Amino acid sequence: MFDFTFHNPTRIIFGKDKENQIGQELKQAGLSRVLFVYGRDSIKRSGLYERVTQSLKDNNIAWMEHAGVSSNPVLSHTRAGVALAKEAGVDGLLAVGGGSVLDEAKAIAVGALAPDDVWNYFIGKEVTAALPVCTVLTIAATGSEMNGNAVITNEETQQKYNISSSHVYPRFSILNPALTRTVPPDYSAYSAVDAIAHVIEGYFTGQGVGLQNRLVETIVKTVMATTEVILARPDDYDARAEFMWGATLALNGLTKSGIGPHAFPNHMIEHALSAIYNIPHGAGLAIVMPAWMRWFAPRRPAIFERFAHRIFGLRSGDDGIEALERWFVAIKAPTRLAEAGIPAGDIEKIAANAAGLAAVWGIAQEYPKEVIADILRLAV
Ligand code: NZQ
Ligand code: ZN
Repeated sequence: MFDFTFHNPTRIIFGKDKENQIGQELKQAGLSRVLFVYGRDSIKRSGLYERVTQSLKDNNIAWMEHAGVSSNPVLSHTRAGVALAKEAGVDGLLAVGGGSVLDEAKAIAVGALAPDDVWNYFIGKEVTAALPVCTVLTIAATGSEMNGNAVITNEETQQKYNISSSHVYPRFSILNPALTRTVPPDYSAYSAVDAIAHVIEGYFTGQGVGLQNRLVETIVKTVMATTEVILARPDDYDARAEFMWGATLALNGLTKSGIGPHAFPNHMIEHALSAIYNIPHGAGLAIVMPAWMRWFAPRRPAIFERFAHRIFGLRSGDDGIEALERWFVAIKAPTRLAEAGIPAGDIEKIAANAAGLAAVWGIAQEYPKEVIADILRLAV
């Protein structure tokens, strides 16, 4: 096992009705005036907005609202949030929504204390401070509720880049699986693909020993099994709960600890797809992953054989990849570029975009533009 430091400061408050404690929790965290960040209309339709604001009132928490965060949050809206946070002099951020809302809130938290434009921190400047971020999660997928990442798209340059900093781990995140009951089937499928992607990137590219490999396999199997239940019976609380906690564990540092150097090539390529075409992140990953696996498997055949065997009871690595792709098809996630309306003629453009991120992530040597284009051609 490789050496590592594991420190995850986010407190998780998990279970039924826990969102009703939000005001109290914010008060205990020392906050009294927050920027309340949310998405389009899902929290109003579900009644969550009413419950959250009631709890804020009951606990004398003042708030300003920054609504309308889009799925795949954009820089212009983030900048507007930064301006509002500065003007209102808030002492923290309250994010209620999915990964997009949480990520934009994290970015605003950085921008609010920064002397310069928030985008600088997405293109390499080190984050040295951020306002506290507290969250109520409504869709389980990204792991943003318990990690230090935030992904924003600069819509002018079509760059979907991230910050990764200990300063933006949420202070606490409230996870009530029942809040995810209204997530539509397509997003339930995309969320499953995303959670699987988060664990398999390190599994295939790192050097995990038995413990980490088994952790990953357990998360993959849990995500698959619970997704099938969720799609068949959306009201199944226990399946929602297992899925939700599984998705959190998939990207909170646990499975990566001790695996040594590893990379996130599927995410690097997917971010180009959602930057250019604004497709859901999990949908893009369902297209990229089988293609990348077919390209990468000959380099690490043993771990692909292990995956095939442990997840699907199959013998060959190729059969395992095919089984995973078939499962994506079964849950109605797209697995080919055309299914997401992306023409094969755009492959060079997508590869050039992804190569920019590969450079930022330090994996340009293994993934030059030509290699990325080769991988994308396997998704035609
Ligand atoms: O805007 P509203 O109305 O809230 O609707 C949202 C949105 O349309 C809806 N939704 C959320 N909760 C719901 C619900 N609908 C019904 N009932 C509910 N309970 O679902 C849609 C998708 O929400 P979004 O937040 O975009 O989904 P997700 O959580 O998958 O987040 C995706 C974003 O996170 C980034 C992705 O790139 C993408 O931008 N990621 C963030 C990561 C991180 N911070 O660590 C890692 C990931 O790899 C990923 O890159
Ligand atoms: Zn992801």
